[in-house]
Amino acid sequence: MAAENTAGRTTKSIIDCQRFGAALVVQDVRMPTITINTTQLQSLLAYASVVQARDSNTYGHMWRVSQYAGRLAEKAGFSPGEVFIAGLGGLVHDVGKIGIPDRILQKPGRLGSEEMALVKEHPRMGYLLIQHHPLSTIVNGVILEHHERIDGSGYPYRRSGDQISIYARVIAIADAFDAMTSPRSYRAVKSIIQACNTLRREKGRQFDPFLANVFIRMALQGEFESIIGHSLTGQRLVSCLECGPVIGSCTPSTRSGIVVCPECGKRYRLHPNGNGFELEWLGEHGQAEIQLETDAMREFIHSAPNHIHI
Ligand SMILES: [Fe+2]
Repeated sequence: MAAENTAGRTTKSIIDCQRFGAALVVQDVRMPTITINTTQLQSLLAYASVVQARDSNTYGHMWRVSQYAGRLAEKAGFSPGEVFIAGLGGLVHDVGKIGIPDRILQKPGRLGSEEMALVKEHPRMGYLLIQHHPLSTIVNGVILEHHERIDGSGYPYRRSGDQISIYARVIAIADAFDAMTSPRSYRAVKSIIQACNTLRREKGRQFDPFLANVFIRMALQGEFESIIGHSLTGQRLVSCLECGPVIGSCTPSTRSGIVVCPECGKRYRLHPNGNGFELEWLGEHGQAEIQLETDAMREFIHSAPNHIHI
């Protein structure tokens, strides 16, 4: 992997050596140190919060993608700094969706071709949006390239193979897995096995084959059980019976408590049922309220290192 540090020098990581089974010896490698300033991190994640606030259908998506990406990166042999960047990439990869109109972003069901063309602009929009941010050098690859495909048939630039940032290749898998295993109004949710079958079929076409194999192994070994269907560690998602997969976030402390759909304001009493909850509609509507993933952002900032080496 080649990465551009803040001083503009090019460096190389051990990741590619590990990927291809080579010894972990890299010559002429400079390991630049990047200082992670909390204020800068907060301001970058604020962009991501705006996207999430506008699209409650995907509540918890950024947290889950960040979790999948960080764990995949760790298992694939990334350095701690690189694992951090992969996790950060999960939170910010879709910042360009800020530029997509609500009527498209929140549209249930499939999009028309013109609408889809606009959606496909979001990697470029995100790249431009954060280009002058102090942390842009560590996330611009993810933002710009997370919809590229390993066979060169993705967008926006049809980049292929190692032309695509290693972090974007990680996020592509994490993003697709979450899309498949999370309920959406226009399609049924896939099981872990079904989602892994899709990843297996698409490895070498949509996905990096090495990373896909690592991810599939982890998924089938149950390593993602605490992420699927959650919006934060220990917080399960439930779906509104009226709005479909619009979500309340429930912790053990809300068991048998009251939750309100953030979309329509419908009120429910929660009844624990196995690992999840059953909903009892209380026959009334409360105040609809937007749920923000502030806890996920706070958790990530809290665990961020002061410095990373890439
Ligand atoms: Fe995206």
